[in-house]
Amino acid sequence: MAKFPPISSKLPVMLHGADYNPEQWSHYPEIIKEDIRLMKLASCNVMSVGIFSWVKLEPEEGLFTFDWMDKQLDSFADNGISVFLATPSGARPAWMSAKYPEVLRVGSNRVRNLHGFRHNHCYSSPVYREKVAIINSELARRYANHPALIGWHISNEFGGECHCDYCQQNFRDWLRNKYGTLEAINHAWWTTFWSHTYTSWEQIESPSAHGETQVHGLNLDWRRFVSDMTIEFCKHEIDILRPYHPQMPITTNMHMIDSIDYRKLAKELDFISWDAYPEWHYTEDGDDSRLAAWSAMHYDMMRSLKNKPFILMESTPSLTNWQSVSKMKRPGMHKLSSLQAVAHGADSVQYFQWRKSRGSSEKFHGAVIDHSGHEHTRVFRDVAEVGELLAELVDVVGLDTPVEVAIVLDWDNRWAVKDAQGIRNSGIHYEETVLQHYGGFWELGIPVDVIGIEDELSKYKLIVAPMLYLISENDGKRVQQFVEEGGSFVTTYWSGIVNETDLCHLGGFPGPLRSTLGIWSEEAEGLHERDRNSIVLRPESAWNWTGEYDAHEIADLIHLEGAEALAEYSSDFYAERPALTRHTLGKGKSYYLATRIKDSDFYTKLYAAIAHELGINRVLDVMLPQGVTAQIRTDGESEFLFVQNFSPAVQTIRLDNRHYIDFMTGERVMGSIELPINGLFILKRKAE
Ligand code: GLA
Ligand code: ZN
Repeated sequence: MAKFPPISSKLPVMLHGADYNPEQWSHYPEIIKEDIRLMKLASCNVMSVGIFSWVKLEPEEGLFTFDWMDKQLDSFADNGISVFLATPSGARPAWMSAKYPEVLRVGSNRVRNLHGFRHNHCYSSPVYREKVAIINSELARRYANHPALIGWHISNEFGGECHCDYCQQNFRDWLRNKYGTLEAINHAWWTTFWSHTYTSWEQIESPSAHGETQVHGLNLDWRRFVSDMTIEFCKHEIDILRPYHPQMPITTNMHMIDSIDYRKLAKELDFISWDAYPEWHYTEDGDDSRLAAWSAMHYDMMRSLKNKPFILMESTPSLTNWQSVSKMKRPGMHKLSSLQAVAHGADSVQYFQWRKSRGSSEKFHGAVIDHSGHEHTRVFRDVAEVGELLAELVDVVGLDTPVEVAIVLDWDNRWAVKDAQGIRNSGIHYEETVLQHYGGFWELGIPVDVIGIEDELSKYKLIVAPMLYLISENDGKRVQQFVEEGGSFVTTYWSGIVNETDLCHLGGFPGPLRSTLGIWSEEAEGLHERDRNSIVLRPESAWNWTGEYDAHEIADLIHLEGAEALAEYSSDFYAERPALTRHTLGKGKSYYLATRIKDSDFYTKLYAAIAHELGINRVLDVMLPQGVTAQIRTDGESEFLFVQNFSPAVQTIRLDNRHYIDFMTGERVMGSIELPINGLFILKRKAE
């Protein structure tokens, strides 16, 4: 196990802070001064500044006003508060949109937006790129060596797409580069269908609701192009900053999960940062565990992007302003949800925002400092408590997470599977399905990486790739090799259907996974909510675990080609056909689940059985109550365990026989611990 260096050697502690917009308060100098006192009181050591500050930094084209930023950064440096300085490209000044309309985005309806909002700019526009280059170099020249600076924060949550003429041209160039000839594109996209064959490059256009949406290969390549284009724009920003201080670490905060392939973006960044906004207290029964697993899965993905700790760049200290109904965090939830990030590999807890703005759209979004303006609030006390705890957790900074299991959550696949028209147009539920499988491990307290199928596979004992609809021949071979060499692989219905350009695999599904799985999927259908079927586990072959589980959404009819059936369908004309299979290949095993099981208990049981067989470690060697998880960070000597209760009840957790210290009290704990609702325990033990 490794111990990674902190994000910045200037600040080798857990980071605690927020997005801060002093430019909104320039008419209130007393407030800006008071903020420093309050930041110290809340044990904040870092602020993200400059996000959306462009017009304050460049009120007229070529006229720069840095005095306010100078003062702010100097004051931070004097008070021991560090800074992530943002480039302001997330929103542009009105003068720019007025003088250079080409910077504004064009919608898929081919209509150019008016000025307004944020993220409303074209990533191809040469003018926008030039203006960004100018402001970024001015910022870097002035602040790259400022004592308060610990990192660059590029723009803000890149996302969205533009359909202007520049973007169309770039798209064609991107395609030419990828395919070489029109003939290759026409074949890859199967354009002879409905006479959609392209006979000149100029005929190729981005998808649009009033134009082309039916060529799935085009849709998929457009998404890849938009993602690549956005990444290239981010790289353009980085290339300008880098020379001014080559060691200064650079990030961009991620959250627009559907528009950018973050695995590719990650390669351009020095460290990963994530904005987390789970909608806590959303369910009727008060059970937050599903949401907690959802949030955990994304944290694990962020850690897996670079296989090292990441930064929680934004989270809300109380409520948001964009949910249909915004709930306050219940007592305990702020600490629990903040430390959840740390448990999964974050070396910071940061908020949007430090101070609630007085006007405009986010004036009711949660903040550390409310409009009342002082520290005597429940939210402030919660934040200050987390600040104190983080300060004590200094030894956790840089600690790794030991992982033996990976879940595959792939961008190409998620784009393709959701675009397909087929057996379930009422909702294919890809991410929800991945979450169900992930949830099994979360309930068991087994740490998981979240990877892409193109990532390194051989370091894991078990890889779970639910609904791997899109998979190339080559990746199919890599999975086969992984299994032959001793790995275990689990996949489900609706896998191995199309290749990398969205063409169906010929010769029988699941295409390149067929020989690995030892099955042939002959037909599959969608299930209505009213359809009743189930799978029944065969006692003799399924790890002494029997039971019947309802089948949902998709049912796949398979033939055994070397695999054995562990469960079978109970009814319909396909009763007794295999529904869960296991195939031994070389030194490894692969499993195929032919239908979706809604009951989450199934996944906990399935992965408990497989993990047991493979000798995969649980963080605590006990069965945890439903809604409770345990995560671990370690350098291979000391182990920090984060035991978290997201269930709606008080929970007792029996400990195994190892020697545990309660990190918060420093006292030894034996026997069991009791976790209140929204309760968290941090335990320390020695590695074995
Ligand atoms: C995003 C943005 C922030 C803010 C929050 C509100 O994460 O990055 O600027 O708008 O949402 O939840
Ligand atoms: Zn454009």
